[in-house]
Amino acid sequence: MKWIKAESYEEMSKIAAEIFKEELQVNREMVLGLATGGTPEGFYKELVNAYKAGEISFADAKSFNLDEYIGISPENEASYHYYMDQQLFNHINMKDENIHVPTGDTSDLAKAAADYDAMIEAAGNVDIQLLGIGVNGHIGFNEPGTPFSLGTNVVELTESTREANKIYFDSLDEVPTHAITMGIQTIMNAKKVVLLISGASKQEAYNRLRSGEITEDFPASALHKHKDVIVIYTDVK
Ligand code: F6R
Repeated sequence: MKWIKAESYEEMSKIAAEIFKEELQVNREMVLGLATGGTPEGFYKELVNAYKAGEISFADAKSFNLDEYIGISPENEASYHYYMDQQLFNHINMKDENIHVPTGDTSDLAKAAADYDAMIEAAGNVDIQLLGIGVNGHIGFNEPGTPFSLGTNVVELTESTREANKIYFDSLDEVPTHAITMGIQTIMNAKKVVLLISGASKQEAYNRLRSGEITEDFPASALHKHKDVIVIYTDVK
């Protein structure tokens, strides 16, 4: 695990975007693994700017997002699909058929989960997976206690996660209780992982990851077993 300290949120976003840009410049068919949330917003701005400046093209690239809420349609403004359209997809030239976000509004979630892993595998696996981290150490929506061996699956969100995400909804009651997420194993199959950690609320998660302990109680710790992980952090001590 390689650790890079950024002096600011902007610098963290730029360093992460640079890693993705360099890959895309040598591998036009890059498979991007993408995350939502507050942390990567600056990263997406950097990617959009690089696209607009003609530095990169997504014409032959594919993307797979980590997760989506259950019971929310892609048009719902609180959905991760909607977030991704706003942050990235509406502004770049990735083809619609190459954009993948797990399906959370289907009656057959088990099939949706299995199909998602099959699609990632058929695409040759994710080249670089972007991750944020939850205050409880979750990656994707893999909450503490999740077996590291799981592929894409349906999970119940913890209260701390629902609480952290209620800013995107009118009230806590409206935050979905379940989500579909790439499993830890799916994430570990990525060739490279870039994890962003930003802000005082992530201090404890940062400390725990830094300790090197590997335990299913702290999902991000699985990444210690991955051979190519870059953690870019800022505003944590
Ligand atoms: C998002 C995701 C989550 C977030 C994490 C941190 O797709 O899978 O693991 O990365 O909850 O969220 P923020 O960045 O909002 O603090």
